[in-house]
Amino acid sequence: MNYSSVRTGVLGATGYTGRELLKLLAAHPRTSVVLATSQSEAGISARRVVRSAPDLPLVRVEDADLSSCDVVFSCLPHGDSARWARRARAAGARVVDLSSDLRVPDTDEANGDEIAVYGLPELHRERIRGCRLIANPGCYPTAALLALTPLLRRGLISGPVVINAASGVSGAGRSAKRELLFAEVAEDFRAYAVGNVHRHLAELRDQSARLANGATPELVFTPHLLPVKQGILETIYVPLSRPLGTDPMAPWEEDFGAEPFVTLVRDGTPAIQDVVGSNRVAIAVTPVEGMASPLLIVSAAIDNLIKGAAGQAVQNMNLMLGIPETEGLSC
Ligand SMILES: NC(=O)c1ccc[n+]([C@@H]2O[C@H](COP(=O)([O-])OP(=O)(O)OC[C@H]3O[C@@H](n4cnc5c(N)ncnc54)[C@H](OP(=O)(O)O)[C@@H]3O)[C@@H](O)[C@H]2O)c1
Repeated sequence: MNYSSVRTGVLGATGYTGRELLKLLAAHPRTSVVLATSQSEAGISARRVVRSAPDLPLVRVEDADLSSCDVVFSCLPHGDSARWARRARAAGARVVDLSSDLRVPDTDEANGDEIAVYGLPELHRERIRGCRLIANPGCYPTAALLALTPLLRRGLISGPVVINAASGVSGAGRSAKRELLFAEVAEDFRAYAVGNVHRHLAELRDQSARLANGATPELVFTPHLLPVKQGILETIYVPLSRPLGTDPMAPWEEDFGAEPFVTLVRDGTPAIQDVVGSNRVAIAVTPVEGMASPLLIVSAAIDNLIKGAAGQAVQNMNLMLGIPETEGLSC
């Protein structure tokens, strides 16, 4: 393949993650966008959606020539996305699926379908290189898994992990919903999917179990709706089997110190504005004082649309194709 011009297609190009992908792919030195889909805006130019996109008419996904692409990104709602991801694979394209459909492979294994590689490069880089089907991780799990990996790998967790996570409103997608109207969310702050019923728990549990060799800690995951456009902040409470010593950041330094998209924050804790617009995750660790047994707070911030979606998808594409991993992305 000629990597100076990788032909890319974006399914669901008018959604929040699809628009972010159009921007990133238009600015990427080795990609051109040759296909973009929308159901409600078919016929208008992709340039009307994103100024830097090519002057290309949006087509309905049913009319898309998937074989015209080297790489297809599926930014469709979960439930619909996997079907189109598989059609794109059958048409010969490599695929990055941004939905949750392919992230927990049990049913695919049972059906004999091609199994997607879980596209969290900081954990699975070698498996992503050269693969053809990627399940791009969820936004909340990206932050939580990068925050918890050093503890899971080392068996340092001794009890239930409480993940309190807050996301900007773009996390819910662009389709109109009454509870997401400005007057409903502005100047308010609320939890939702309380009681471990959020869709992302399945992938969080699956990946945590793999990292901990099956010895998964229990997770309590409570998402909150934050009245900002984009960004996620997670505050994670972890009971430890032993104190972490004089430099509690040492396990993260060892695992992620050389990672281009991981920032370890040593002076304070990360804020959303530290990462919005970038493909970075910012992580801090803080031992809790005055506890009878050791407790650690791990804080993690990402941009849900970039490291939590479109940026990570481009990072995965770069790896799949052997392009330098950081190309087209802001560190
Ligand atoms: N938002 C986030 O922070 C985030 C982060 C990580 C992963 N994700 C996942 O990424 C995917 C896209 O999320 P999003 O937030 O970008 O969604 P979105 O803003 O709601 O956009 C969905 C896109 O899919 C198109 N679409 C909707 N229903 C369709 C159907 N039945 N057939 C074909 N096209 C259809 C829409 O087209 P028209 O409306 O133009 O017709 C639109 O372009 C979802 O699976 C989501 O779970 C989202």
